[in-house]
Amino acid sequence: MNLAVDQDRIVAEIEALARISDAEPPAVTRIVFTPTDQEARAWLRARCLEAGLEVRQDAIGNMFALWTGADETAAPVATGSHIDAIPNAGKYDGVVGVLGGLEAIRTLQRTGFRPTRAIELILFTSEEPTRFGIGCLGSRMLCGTLTVEAARGLTDTSAQTLEQVRQKANIHGDLESVRLDPGHYSAFVELHIEQGPLLEHSHLPLGIVESIAAPASYQLIAEGAGGHAGGVLMAGRNDALCAAAEIILTVEQAALSSGSSDTVATVGICDVFPGAVNSIPSRVRLTLDVRDTDLPRRERVMQIIQDKSHDVSDKRGVSVQFHIVNADAPAICSSIVTEALVRSCGKHNLPFQKMVSRAYHDSLFMSRIAPTGMLFIPCRNGYSHRPDEFASPEDIACGTLVLAETLRELSR
Ligand code: GLV
Ligand code: MN
Ligand code: MN
Repeated sequence: MNLAVDQDRIVAEIEALARISDAEPPAVTRIVFTPTDQEARAWLRARCLEAGLEVRQDAIGNMFALWTGADETAAPVATGSHIDAIPNAGKYDGVVGVLGGLEAIRTLQRTGFRPTRAIELILFTSEEPTRFGIGCLGSRMLCGTLTVEAARGLTDTSAQTLEQVRQKANIHGDLESVRLDPGHYSAFVELHIEQGPLLEHSHLPLGIVESIAAPASYQLIAEGAGGHAGGVLMAGRNDALCAAAEIILTVEQAALSSGSSDTVATVGICDVFPGAVNSIPSRVRLTLDVRDTDLPRRERVMQIIQDKSHDVSDKRGVSVQFHIVNADAPAICSSIVTEALVRSCGKHNLPFQKMVSRAYHDSLFMSRIAPTGMLFIPCRNGYSHRPDEFASPEDIACGTLVLAETLRELSR
């Protein structure tokens, strides 16, 4: 049976969701469990109910929309992504995988197809680390990588605990119940924009992901001595920001000299205390995001960063402490899913290339409990995490078509 994706509808839905945002358009900001995020979730829930799906939510706020299958004993196949968006982001990151997943289900429904295995759409909670400092909160808990105890210890940017935030967001239930057993799903497949320029450069509409690079993140606290910006002479200072500045350049240098362009390292947050014009910075908090396709190489780079930071610390009399937020292994996608994706592309005569995901995704964690794969579509100039992020309606429809075909095969 021919599959016909409703391109106009999915584009209109992406636009509608983008309007539920805390930023001026075209930027999108949707931080997990804010009233805006809650409104977006309610909007999505209504779209899922319209499609006849059974909707439930777990104790961390992951939302599941189930299209029941003919065989209720068979493990479902799942698809999905996230709709939370970092400050000043675009419309497509995560959203294409959620609304594309929904439209893939509707596309199959329109043909009269009835899956044998149920097909479940998942909206993962807080793929972005903005609020709790750690990415993929929902999928980490689903697969047990983040323990309930560690989750309870999380605090948000205004020092509220996860429990407090959950209560305010009206999300209840026992966090212990979030974890799913391996085998709960027969397969998981996530559609996403590439967030890099490779597909655009090769003029291809689709990428089939074979592996996902390993992310790690750290908090670094540098503590020196404050004082009067006029009164304290330069020679006697222990300026925490000057130490942090040297460390930031060390981070860049360590990544550049790893021997591979697959190593990337970023300092994305620098909080300066007390943050006054005429006061010497006494404390600085940096966040460090280090990633690589090769785990030992990432660890080596991290070691260099730590060693050099301790040199800076000694030289400047500024103490430096590292706290690991997460240090994850890479994921290898399952041939069960990648081969189904290849066959689906072939069936529709759509060219693709195999690739690595340098960004992390909920798939990184779903791969721990289910055969997992990802499908990428191009985004203009490779831009993502910025307001001018853009994926063309044609590419979105093309990705949705291949997703639908893949779900059809995997659910039989
Ligand atoms: C996900 O948003 C990432 O930072 O890779
Ligand atoms: Mn993102
Ligand atoms: Mn994403």
